[in-house]
Amino acid sequence: MPLPPQDAPAGLIRQLRPSDAPRFRDHLQRLDATARHDRFNGGIDDGFLERYAERCFGDGTTVIGCVIGDRVVAAAELHERPEFECPTGEAAFSVEHAHRRRGLGSRLFERLLLHARALGYDRLLVTTHADNGAMKALARKYDAQLEFDVGEAHGIIELAGVGPAGSAWASDHAVDGLAELPHL
Ligand SMILES: CC(C)(COP(=O)(O)OP(=O)(O)OC[C@H]1O[C@@H](n2cnc3c(N)ncnc32)[C@H](O)[C@@H]1OP(=O)(O)O)[C@@H](O)C(=O)NCCC(=O)NCCS
Repeated sequence: MPLPPQDAPAGLIRQLRPSDAPRFRDHLQRLDATARHDRFNGGIDDGFLERYAERCFGDGTTVIGCVIGDRVVAAAELHERPEFECPTGEAAFSVEHAHRRRGLGSRLFERLLLHARALGYDRLLVTTHADNGAMKALARKYDAQLEFDVGEAHGIIELAGVGPAGSAWASDHAVDGLAELPHL
């Protein structure tokens, strides 16, 4: 159950360490069937999510989490897409149900954009199914140009035009800093 805001513990947005892999796995396994479908575009079982979490920390994926106490309650992933000629990353997001629509997805998106620029990516891809209104709203908020394929929405963000200089979202963040969220 979500805690009322005044009782909620402090949350922290930070890059997850390899030792956070079990916390990341637990976060993914707490996603319900709808969220798993929205995130992975298919029916996904716990075994897959366990292997997936391990793989993320083994293949150089950047995983940023919102950590409350000992729990990761939301995450943003930045995967390399080496098959493209220009340096390209792919982003994916998961916010546990109790913490949605409170700006967490946006905070994670902003943080992920900073990491993507720091890693020298020229563009960022976001893929979801065409009915995922939440992800489409989030992607549009950060100027993703969305295209629709059969059942899928593909977003592209050209990073050359995105902060940090002069951009409101980046002004109070730094890749190597910790963004504190007082009350989630
Ligand atoms: C998509 C997701 C990450 C959004 O997280 P969130 O923390 O709720 O996002 P925010 O609160 O920052 O909202 C971002 C914007 O999207 C809008 N939004 C959020 N949920 C929405 C919904 N269900 N329908 C329409 N708009 C929505 C918000 O109003 C906000 O816009 P605003 O700032 O202009 O008001 C979350 O819903 C989620 O984890 N879904 C399941 C997994 C998934 O779909 N992942 C994406 C595929 S990779």
